Amino acid sequence: MMGAEKGSTFFIHTFGCQMNQADSGIITALFQAEGYVQAEKELDAGIVLLNTCAVRENAVDRVEHFLQRLQGRKKREKGLIVGVAGCIPQYKREEMFSLYPAIDFLAGPDTYRTIPLLVEQVRRGGKLASLELNSKETYEGVEPVRDGVTSAFVPVMRGCNNRCAYCVVPFTRGRERSQPFSSVMLEVQKLVASGYREITLLGQNVNSYWDVEHGYDFSALLDAVSREAPKARIRFTTSHPKDISESLVRAIASRPNICNALHLPVQSGSSRMLGRMHRGHTIEEYMEKIALIRSIIPDVTLSTDIIAGFCGEQEEDHQASLALLSNVRFDSAYMFFYSTRPGTLAAETLEDDVPEAVKKRRLQEIIDLQNQISSSLFHEAIGTVVEVLAESESRRSTERLMGRTAGNRTVVFDREHHQPGDLLHVRITGATSATLTGQSVPQVP
Ligand code: 5AD
Ligand code: SF4
Repeated sequence: MMGAEKGSTFFIHTFGCQMNQADSGIITALFQAEGYVQAEKELDAGIVLLNTCAVRENAVDRVEHFLQRLQGRKKREKGLIVGVAGCIPQYKREEMFSLYPAIDFLAGPDTYRTIPLLVEQVRRGGKLASLELNSKETYEGVEPVRDGVTSAFVPVMRGCNNRCAYCVVPFTRGRERSQPFSSVMLEVQKLVASGYREITLLGQNVNSYWDVEHGYDFSALLDAVSREAPKARIRFTTSHPKDISESLVRAIASRPNICNALHLPVQSGSSRMLGRMHRGHTIEEYMEKIALIRSIIPDVTLSTDIIAGFCGEQEEDHQASLALLSNVRFDSAYMFFYSTRPGTLAAETLEDDVPEAVKKRRLQEIIDLQNQISSSLFHEAIGTVVEVLAESESRRSTERLMGRTAGNRTVVFDREHHQPGDLLHVRITGATSATLTGQSVPQVP
């Protein structure tokens, strides 16, 4: 950043999912291609961009808080440019300008390419929005700028053609479209050449991947990526349970470097609620998929997303969600209480009738149960030796490193001579419901 004028420096705050993190890397590349320089911290930047998530109300509240603070900064600092990108502007559109006076420009998930131009136009005066959805935009040819040198996200498809009743994603990210196979493979080759040790293929619905050039599906893509990067761990997210095929499960099982970990959002343990949510499967069908996966990959670790208090949820539906958690014993779960999103099918046609206190009580019961399950699964690992990819220094101490097992469990261990990026063996000596702790050992005994 040495020597760069403040007006040509930018800083991005990223909210939300891994896709948003990957998108911030794309936006960074687009800025840099126009000569802008990434600032190390927000205060050094003349352009501040919030890359946002609209999936739940509280994600929107956090962004609101940032915009209020930036409004204060703008009063003191003439010339500061504030933009909001991603799902919130696509969802709330021009209304954002009147709600939050700090904003100079808005860009949706399909218009990141216009951002440098928007900045130039804002400098000439006015406020601008670029919010068209474009079901052809895959950002092919833009090489995202990545934070670390160990793990890389590779978006392979964007958008979602499902219509889950609670979800804004189909509105904010539009129709599904896939990155051509040749372009994914080119990116993977570059990552291998740069020494990346972990590649995560991303999409709202990765199982819908479809390559228009050769007709390859997601199993074929996953298999090809794992062969192109045989020394890297390969992960992917997110899969819709209804689209998990036996060929995909077999592809995971047959390739040693595809991690035996699956994130399979269930949303509710009650078929009645799944029907109201328009998930396209019953809980029995979900359990059949789990049985299939476990029969082919016995050591698989499973994680999920679950929503408490969706419209019309009765106590017995909630009990069914608790029973599901006990039956499946997920390694971990993202747990939310339902927040109504205007414009979605649920907001238009169903009553948000579970009182907030009940939603929160049910969510707490779900969290408590899942924590017990995670904790007991993690304690079972004590005494075993696991393979860990070291990612970074641990949050608490530079003497310890943080890494992950192939099953996506977080492990904190004494650093000794190791560096982020090392693949090593760790003997597990302790566990909580979220983390394993241990010491590295020379090799698997
Ligand atoms: N309220 C609560 N949780 C939601 N999710 C999506 N929409 C909502 C909503 N309106 C959750 C789902 C999804 C995850 C990304 O966010 O569990 O899988
Ligand atoms: Fe939303 Fe359902 Fe699409 Fe997931 S699959 S992004 S929950 S609509």
